[in-house]
Amino acid sequence: MSAPAQATPLRLGIAGLGTVGIGVVKIVQRHADLLAARSGRPVVITAVCARDRTKNRDADLSGYAWETDAVALAGRDDVDVFVELMGGHEGAARHATEAALRAGKNVVTANKALLAHHGQELAEMAEAAGAVIRFEAAVAGGIPVIKALTEGLAGNQIRRVMGVMNGTCNYILTRMETAGLPYDTVFEEARQLGYLEADPNLDVGGIDAGHKLAILAAIAFGTRVSFEAVKLEGIGRISIDDIRRAGDMGYKIKLLGVAQMTGRGLEQRMTPCLVPASSPLGQLHGGTNMVVIEGDSVGQIVLRGAGAGEGPTASAVMGDVMDLARGLKLPTFGMPAAQLAAPTPAVTSAPASYYLRLHLLDKPGALAKVATVLGEAGVSISRMRQYGHDDSAAPVLIVTHKTTPEAISLAIAGFPATGVVEGEPVALRIEEL
Ligand code: NAP
Ligand code: HSE
Repeated sequence: MSAPAQATPLRLGIAGLGTVGIGVVKIVQRHADLLAARSGRPVVITAVCARDRTKNRDADLSGYAWETDAVALAGRDDVDVFVELMGGHEGAARHATEAALRAGKNVVTANKALLAHHGQELAEMAEAAGAVIRFEAAVAGGIPVIKALTEGLAGNQIRRVMGVMNGTCNYILTRMETAGLPYDTVFEEARQLGYLEADPNLDVGGIDAGHKLAILAAIAFGTRVSFEAVKLEGIGRISIDDIRRAGDMGYKIKLLGVAQMTGRGLEQRMTPCLVPASSPLGQLHGGTNMVVIEGDSVGQIVLRGAGAGEGPTASAVMGDVMDLARGLKLPTFGMPAAQLAAPTPAVTSAPASYYLRLHLLDKPGALAKVATVLGEAGVSISRMRQYGHDDSAAPVLIVTHKTTPEAISLAIAGFPATGVVEGEPVALRIEEL
């Protein structure tokens, strides 16, 4: 297996030699013959860049030119593809990516923050320069979901995209469940294991997953990336009690992203939700990611795999590199940037069933008072379960029929006046799959 002797090599300049960057270096070195055979030309690294040249990086970098400045790397004459693996949506990552595109060079990046914040302008810049920006690794790590949406499902009208796209949150939630440990303990475990981003709020606050959802929504619905319109809520308020009680009612709690085009506009939310325990999303354990896509012709498809880590993420980067080596050029978000619509954000979420957990005082008529408040708010009860009164208050779980978030908020606001609800009720949306 090898490329034709005369084939022009594709020359990569890699900025960022951390987890992902070194993973890419290893694949290029290990699979040189395979890459050349599959693309018809050698794929080589000519130059690299990181902050600290003295760091031991577990790879032989001696054959590559070293740059201390990513912008300089992007401008080198011997670099055809600028591979941005530094991270961050401003600073070096943004400046060097823009410099590469302005110079007409193709860019491959794993940087979801960069795409979520500046996707539209980068897409326009790329098209103006006749260049391409690819970002498979930015969403769900090793799962080729960008390719699936942009290419394999290009003949579908997409109805809904949803998924678990932050492995750290899924690890925390499933570990809480299986070990019966509280959030704070498992959060600390995740920190010790190195699962958390330098700023943990990117993970547990839902921001990282929100970036990924905004990118998928742009491709799925032909709209400009609008991360600022994603409704975000993290997992910090999820208690072990809710995980157990949701389980009793046949559900699992997930940090779930959902994007769908409704009659009221584009709905994008990354929030803790209940999903049926028996569904593919309900069965997803640990740090694995899953993306569910629904199209008018294909129906529902489920993609599952490693959402992070050296090998899976580098695998996705190399998929993009190979597309470029083969000469495949696609518009950034699946259609020319000028045709991407400015989305109208949906002001409210589509109706859904809700899970409510309340603590009810042991008083005659307490349940009736709660039911009255729900009824007056227009919320209809589907199922209900009351546990024993340990002290004075008993946990009560209610699964509602489909209702609006506004009706749920109205009911919750009405509970204190009943005099029978202790503490703050918990309300979580149930996502049907
Ligand atoms: P990382 O391990 O922290 O590595 C970052 C690299 O960038 C380091 O080599 C660092 O240099 C270099 N760097 C940072 N600032 C720089 C600057 N101003 N100039 C030159 N080099 C600079 O990060 P990572 O985990 O590989 O992530 C890289 C990108 O992939 C991020 O956008 C991340 O969101 C994305 N991503 C990561 C994963 C994952 O599993 N890790 C999964 C999906 C996507 P030094 O080594 O000298 O400090
Ligand atoms: N912090 C991310 C996660 C990995 O936990 O899924 C990179 O996207």
